[in-house]
Amino acid sequence: MEKVRIGVIGVGGMGYAHCQSVKNLEETELTCVCDNDEEIARKRGEEFGVRYFTDYKELIKSGLCDGVIVATPHWFHPEISIFAFENGLHVLSEKPIAVKVSDADKMIEAAKKNKKTFAVMYQKRTTPLVKKLLQIIKEGRLGEIHRTLCVDPWYRCEAYYESGVWRATWIGEGGGVTINQAPHTIDFFTLLAGLPKKIEAKTRTRLHNIEVEDEVSAFLEYENGAWGYYYTSTCEPIGPFHLEIAGDKAKLVIRGNEVTLYNYESPISEFTYKADDMWASIKVNEEKIEIPESKGTGHREIIKNFARNILYGEELLSPGEEGLKSVEFINAIILSGKKNKPVEIPVDRKEYDELMEELKKTSKPKKVVKVQRKTDPNIAKQV
Ligand SMILES: NC(=O)c1ccc[n+]([C@@H]2O[C@H](COP(=O)([O-])OP(=O)(O)OC[C@H]3O[C@@H](n4cnc5c(N)ncnc54)[C@H](O)[C@@H]3O)[C@@H](O)[C@H]2O)c1
Repeated sequence: MEKVRIGVIGVGGMGYAHCQSVKNLEETELTCVCDNDEEIARKRGEEFGVRYFTDYKELIKSGLCDGVIVATPHWFHPEISIFAFENGLHVLSEKPIAVKVSDADKMIEAAKKNKKTFAVMYQKRTTPLVKKLLQIIKEGRLGEIHRTLCVDPWYRCEAYYESGVWRATWIGEGGGVTINQAPHTIDFFTLLAGLPKKIEAKTRTRLHNIEVEDEVSAFLEYENGAWGYYYTSTCEPIGPFHLEIAGDKAKLVIRGNEVTLYNYESPISEFTYKADDMWASIKVNEEKIEIPESKGTGHREIIKNFARNILYGEELLSPGEEGLKSVEFINAIILSGKKNKPVEIPVDRKEYDELMEELKKTSKPKKVVKVQRKTDPNIAKQV
């Protein structure tokens, strides 16, 4: 196989950009597209000169591709991916891989059973910033982690939420800011600091006319006893996100693209018991970490790496199994917020499935929708 033949499923928004990347990369060939909005499917098919489908099952069974990129709204990622794995195709899923941990488990199982490549579009992993942060952690420069902080404000106006019938509904999206805007940061926050063992969250809809959460504040507890704080919302203008990981040997502080490492002259665990002077304190050396400028968004690099994994066994930058971590974090937040109690990770699959079923029943048709895709079958039934 010289090139991986790829079909893109869901080509209205993000999937359209993926078609262009697939077309331009030397490792991939765009062979077909699918959207269950026929107009969109036809338009993309004609633009790229490839066959188009309105039913993803037909695309998967067509024999035209070796792998698919799934860029539909989140609820459809598991069903489409599992069907692709079972029919011998590799899958690159948009984030989050699933709305529920139970569905994410099934996707991972199907990929393993059918021995297919499974990757997730966490393109921030390819940025110089995240690569550098990961290197600092892997070199053990922080020592044991004592505390974390992640403040990740996004902003969305009402018109954004009115731009699609699936957006910000339980039935169409399965959550709010936590599942739509925050996953990229949650992915690299948990990649750097690990998954907490327990989350106690407050979630609410503060600013927008939507049924899902637009603000989250959460207290985190890690396996080793470390504590953390996490905040996200679509109510606050996008400013530099703030991330801190405080360890025994150093503290890493990230403000947007500015990274500072505060190195301790001796580890807290040693100094605290050795110092004789009652006012002694640890000497801290400030080190500015240079981050090379980011080139591109990283989407193309993830697609390239997905293809190179299939062709040459190159290590995946963003493996599908790791997509489970952010779903655990997201589900724990929503469950904790809704039930008003601390939630352990791994999240109780049955409890979360039941919660989602209850929430989906409360979903109301949107009154104002500026763009109504014909393609959201579950939602269309109610509207
Ligand atoms: N990685 C990123 O940077 C990034 C950015 C934006 C969106 N996303 C993700 O991409 C996914 C799609 O988001 P979007 O903003 O492109 O949405 P969108 O609504 O603009 O596009 C989704 C497309 O999927 C089609 N579709 C829906 N159900 C389908 C089905 N069952 N079969 C085939 N086609 C179907 C719709 O008609 C639509 O054209 C979401 O999961 C989102 O989280 C990722």
